[in-house]
Amino acid sequence: MNHHSETPLSRAESVLWANAPAARKSPYALSYHIAAPSGWINDPNGLVRYGGRYHVFYQHYPFAPQWGPMHWGHASSADLVHWRHEPIALAPDQPYEKGCFSGSGADDGDTLALIYTAHDEDNPIKETQCVARSSDGGRTFVKSPLNPVVPHPPEGCSTDFRDPKVWRQDGHWFMVVGTAREGRGCAALYAGDDLEHWTYRGILAESDGTMGSMWECPNFCRVDGQDLLIISPMEMEGHKNIALFGAFDAAAGRMTLDRYQELDLGEDFYAAQVMEDGDRVLLIGWMDMWGKPYPTQKDGWAGALTLPRQLSVRDGRLCQLPPKELEALRQSVLVDSDAPGALDGVHGDRMELDIQCGGTAELCLSDADGELLRVTLTPERATFALPTGRTMSRDLSGAQSDIRVFVDRCSVECFVGGGEACFTQRVYPKENQFSYALSGDVTRVRAWTLGDAFEECPC
Ligand code: FRU
Repeated sequence: MNHHSETPLSRAESVLWANAPAARKSPYALSYHIAAPSGWINDPNGLVRYGGRYHVFYQHYPFAPQWGPMHWGHASSADLVHWRHEPIALAPDQPYEKGCFSGSGADDGDTLALIYTAHDEDNPIKETQCVARSSDGGRTFVKSPLNPVVPHPPEGCSTDFRDPKVWRQDGHWFMVVGTAREGRGCAALYAGDDLEHWTYRGILAESDGTMGSMWECPNFCRVDGQDLLIISPMEMEGHKNIALFGAFDAAAGRMTLDRYQELDLGEDFYAAQVMEDGDRVLLIGWMDMWGKPYPTQKDGWAGALTLPRQLSVRDGRLCQLPPKELEALRQSVLVDSDAPGALDGVHGDRMELDIQCGGTAELCLSDADGELLRVTLTPERATFALPTGRTMSRDLSGAQSDIRVFVDRCSVECFVGGGEACFTQRVYPKENQFSYALSGDVTRVRAWTLGDAFEECPC
């Protein structure tokens, strides 16, 4: 490449693809999840449907498989199942930023807009909100000359002030930004007629002292008539990514809260973001967590996003299930049987299981060294047990009695009881060998091998 035409973006792009062949050879390379071609990723960002395609961006460090000055990676899809890598969307290349932190995407008619946090640890006002726009369907973005469009946190709020999420309601744009007030996590609310001019409307909702010291990645959405505020609270005892149920009063700029539900009981689920898609709401999380070992770092990559989930609220419970489109990943039917022993001898590492149960049933995933995860379903409860002895459980309404599991080489996502209990866990089986054991009251067991989600890449 001509040295003079190099930009921070083009440099990032060439290192990313130079390292991609090695990352792709990783024995744990994911087959149908969104991950970067190489390097590090964390939060999903900018989820939006635009120009007939789904766009998923993510926090990305393309130069090494570890967190570093944040860029935005990008993938897009026509069907929510098959993805292609798009050029890196944002690099920290402006005087007001050393990292482009999490944020959202918006269909703004002629442009696909990204609203993100410009982060600069050396600036006393550490975090501000900025806009970038694409007029070519998401291939290239131009940062707004009006940046930062929100130049400081609201008075009385912390300089931890990040992860803007916008939505459109009653002919206006609304935006929530995560922050804290007097050591309690909260979400600041803004409204505007365009994405560059915002009016502070007040604190939408805040912790009562038990819901964390700072709220990362807030999202507002309405599902089946229920207003939800989804947050990733820092330092909330026993919780990491919750949906707060309440009622949003747009005129007052307040949301009253009445209860919350953990989104996912596994260890590797954080920073979930929602996307409106017609009359449904989809959600994607980061399929990892801060402070964990990332064994694939030695192969040149770390981090991935979860499968998309479609949200519903049933009898006051938030349910999450993979959307119907994902059936397109199925390649061949390995099992279709009513016998509990149906999974004996099955070894796939890219699998979908659909287990319909009559009463109590147990599914165990193992490798040659022993158990990786045990899922127990009773009519009242779903329980997930890890070999470390850690056990998580959730009571079920009993409306549906099933265990659905997606395995992708080093990840397991479980949806139990019609999606009332979800569990996402990274596991690293010895020699990629999973085995499955099922027992109990099972009425139908189906298993499929799943295919690849990414089109051929240029590496
Ligand atoms: C959440 C988070 C966000 C921030 C981003 C930085 O995982 O800490 O609050 O914007 O990651 O990469």
